[in-house]
Amino acid sequence: MEVEQLEQRLEQLSAKAVDELGEADQKEEAIQVKNRYLGRSGSVQELMAALRELPNEDKPKAGKAINRAKSTIEDAFESRLEQLEHQQLQRRLKEETVDVTLPARSSGAGLGHPLRQVERRLIAIFEQMGFQVAEGPEIETDYYNFEALNFPPDHPARDMQDTFVLTDDRLLRTHTSPVQVRTMEAYDLPIRIISPGRVYRCDSDLTHSPVFHQIEGLLVGEGVTMSHLKGTLTTFAQRCFGEGTGIRFRPSYFPFTEPSAEVDVECIFCEGEGCRVCSDTGWLEILGAGMVDPNVLEHADIDAGRYTGFAFGLGVERIAMLEQGVGDIRRFFENDQQFLAQF
Ligand code: DAH
Repeated sequence: MEVEQLEQRLEQLSAKAVDELGEADQKEEAIQVKNRYLGRSGSVQELMAALRELPNEDKPKAGKAINRAKSTIEDAFESRLEQLEHQQLQRRLKEETVDVTLPARSSGAGLGHPLRQVERRLIAIFEQMGFQVAEGPEIETDYYNFEALNFPPDHPARDMQDTFVLTDDRLLRTHTSPVQVRTMEAYDLPIRIISPGRVYRCDSDLTHSPVFHQIEGLLVGEGVTMSHLKGTLTTFAQRCFGEGTGIRFRPSYFPFTEPSAEVDVECIFCEGEGCRVCSDTGWLEILGAGMVDPNVLEHADIDAGRYTGFAFGLGVERIAMLEQGVGDIRRFFENDQQFLAQF
């Protein structure tokens, strides 16, 4: 082969290689093309044999031509690779882009826990009647939970409440009534408070939970009578359960009130006709109440000759269960999303 022929052949080869590289649309394909021309048994390499047979004076010219062809192909290979990588990157960017115009997946606004919803509504009713919210500790002393409320030591009435005892003197409050005493100690008369909060009793079944919620009410001043209590609770029942809801008082016993009463409202399901929920009585028991026992006033240094008061206590779960038709009190404390989402 003449040197000119060799040069021509190299030109053709490199032009063909450049074309083929331009058509390779995968990195692997480009590598294959490159190897076909520049690899150990590639077409360019084969022409090295032809170079060796040329007369010595032609060899430099032929060598240069070979190097030129090599670098043309290599350059074309590099730039094709760069192109392919760029294309691949563009493709990925396009596939993986976030479409900011898509509507967001909504997570749903949170709602209050069903017990909290009921509690808030009850508090609002009493606030509208002028009661202020007062709070007290959940870890109480025997004095505030029992003694100052006229439960003498060893009095059987203490057994009405299955107490979680912490130490000799500390316990988890079994009711919100201790806040009565704390408020009377801390504030001047007249007093008109409600005290919502958690209470604890060692008890668990369909209608009892070891932790539950009460709202205590207390009104103390001059000339407070049982009819004020009745008026207050009647207004409460009507605002809570609807106009025309009747209430009735049944004589009862609590150490801290005298006289004491259990208060029923007309059944909110059958409106007094009698149904399964009210066991055909037409009435639902929802409250304990009474006139503050003079002993309780005296414990708080209030002159029981001059001042009188009434008190009441209600269970939040009881009302929530009635209104929301929940049969097992423990459902409120399991944090089952499906249950909670219904409210
Ligand atoms: N503390 C009572 C209880 O947990 C409820 C109660 C009844 C509160 C009568 C009162 C009341 O203030 O007058 O069983």
